[in-house]
Amino acid sequence: MPVFLLRYVKFRAFSPQVFHVKQAFLRNRILALPSEVPLAQSTRSIPIIDYEGSSYKTDFWEGQGREFEDLTERHAVRRLLPSSGNVLVEVGAGFGRLADLYDRFERIVLVDYSTSLLAEARDRFGDDPRYQFVAANVYHLPFVANLADVVVMIRVAHHLEAIDVALAEIHRVLGGGRTFIMEFANKRNAKAIARYLLRKQSWNPFDAEPYEFVPLNFDFHPGWMREQLEQAGFRIEAELAISHFRIPAIKHRVSPALLARIDNAIAGPGAVFKFSPSILTKNISTKPHTPAVGFFQCPKCGNQGLEAKETGYFCPRCEETWRVQDGIADFRFPRPGS
Ligand SMILES: C[S@@+](CC[C@H](N)C(=O)[O-])C[C@H]1O[C@@H](n2cnc3c(N)ncnc32)[C@H](O)[C@@H]1O
Repeated sequence: MPVFLLRYVKFRAFSPQVFHVKQAFLRNRILALPSEVPLAQSTRSIPIIDYEGSSYKTDFWEGQGREFEDLTERHAVRRLLPSSGNVLVEVGAGFGRLADLYDRFERIVLVDYSTSLLAEARDRFGDDPRYQFVAANVYHLPFVANLADVVVMIRVAHHLEAIDVALAEIHRVLGGGRTFIMEFANKRNAKAIARYLLRKQSWNPFDAEPYEFVPLNFDFHPGWMREQLEQAGFRIEAELAISHFRIPAIKHRVSPALLARIDNAIAGPGAVFKFSPSILTKNISTKPHTPAVGFFQCPKCGNQGLEAKETGYFCPRCEETWRVQDGIADFRFPRPGS
């Protein structure tokens, strides 16, 4: 589809035929990166979804009957998180829904492409000096190699057209032997299989390729995702299959807390079969451990010698200034409108 057609897609028009309708509320703007701008870590021009100004928190979570999904994800992330660590980076942290889970870490870096969602996270966690708020693109993270002890990425993979580039970037930023926790939407779930077998759905859930049910919304085959993770240099240490009860008839009858507890009790064995719509993987970087030097690096040229100024960070090599405004360091690349 030509890039200009990807703009202002009204997802509601597509939702009846899909299993995941997570973004049905959004009048999404799909931001295409201009191809003439040289990209630091990739020669590809990768479109990304833009949540700037969206009311994701209130339109998708608060009062929207998703307490079960929220609780079961929290249980699962808590189970997979290492017991302590120095730097935790959450990529695509949004408004910081899960950020209270990280209190055993000394430095918590919430990264998202949307500054408006980060501002909501800052309003909630900004008084705690351990939290930092960074606007950046997962394809060009502004951190030095080996910085993080843990990277978490929940409900973001389904927006990534170039998961290989994102995984390579996360692998670069994560220390050797350290943990990457990722959630992804599972295309080979029970509902999709049933619909396919009953001929109510044309696409094949057993086919390995990602299924893009609306622009920039992908469901992935677990086997395909495993290959991507391994190719990027990760070993999968644990898997949890969650959200088995994402079914209104059940959710209306059983309390979210009880349902989430049952869901998590079967999440381990369920990962053998992987019939749930959501999978979490705990992945260990297989590279050798090397201590990180510094913290930020220029996402445009990779220079680690950024100079801290009053208004932000200056890169003496490419002469780019990355602004810090209202507590949010803005390292998006290329910046919108540039
Ligand atoms: C469905 S929301 C999930 C937010 C949060 N992880 C949660 O579970 O509540 C997806 C988030 O990914 C962010 N995102 C999507 N593509 C991104 C990219 N290329 N770089 C950084 N963030 C991205 C969006 O801005 C949005 O906040």
